[in-house]
Amino acid sequence: MQEELRTERLLLRPLRDDDAARLAALANNWNVARMLARMPFPYTLDMAHEWIARQTAMRQEGEEFGYAVTDGDGFVGGCGVQAHADGTHEIGYWIGEPFWNRGYATEAARAVLTDAVVRFGAETIISGHFAENHASGRVLTKLGFRYTGEEHRWCVARQENLRCLTMRLARTDV
Ligand SMILES: CC(C)(COP(=O)(O)OP(=O)(O)OC[C@H]1O[C@@H](n2cnc3c(N)ncnc32)[C@H](O)[C@@H]1OP(=O)(O)O)[C@@H](O)C(=O)NCCC(=O)NCCS
Repeated sequence: MQEELRTERLLLRPLRDDDAARLAALANNWNVARMLARMPFPYTLDMAHEWIARQTAMRQEGEEFGYAVTDGDGFVGGCGVQAHADGTHEIGYWIGEPFWNRGYATEAARAVLTDAVVRFGAETIISGHFAENHASGRVLTKLGFRYTGEEHRWCVARQENLRCLTMRLARTDV
């Protein structure tokens, strides 16, 4: 994955330790954490520092390529690709609530998808959203993803298994 990706309004770059305060402030929001599988709640500054510190190792091991999504004023969210052991690649993203509905998630995810397809040569990219997360369903649909089925996924913030709608995007549709 490239170190930096530029879009019309956003710069996606590796997380830096000085993102921690803003990351923690935006992530420590139930409306964000409840829709994500892996984000704990409450979300502390220590968790932000720890997450940022793990990024380099995850990149080097080819496990996960995460970007800080930044606009002209700084950090607004995260977007990245996970390489699963079964050879599939999964995209995920979140945007801080003050910045919702500006098209940021779609714009950031589109850049990450394009780069991931080139880099991994993946035939398909997978994703999914909790069934009640209509905004994320809209983002993925706008990106060209199609529904493939459903499964239950553990939500760390809610500490329960939730219905998750699974989606897929073919390389040729990116
Ligand atoms: C889902 C999320 C990433 C969307 O970010 P965003 O930057 O607001 O997304 P965009 O502006 O690119 O697109 C949002 C779309 O959803 C639509 N939308 C917003 N709320 C909606 C709702 N309750 N029901 C249906 N559609 C909704 C918007 O109208 C927009 O569609 P449009 O362009 O056709 O008008 C953001 O809400 C978020 O971070 N939520 C918490 C974490 C999360 O859900 N991450 C994804 C996990 S799968």
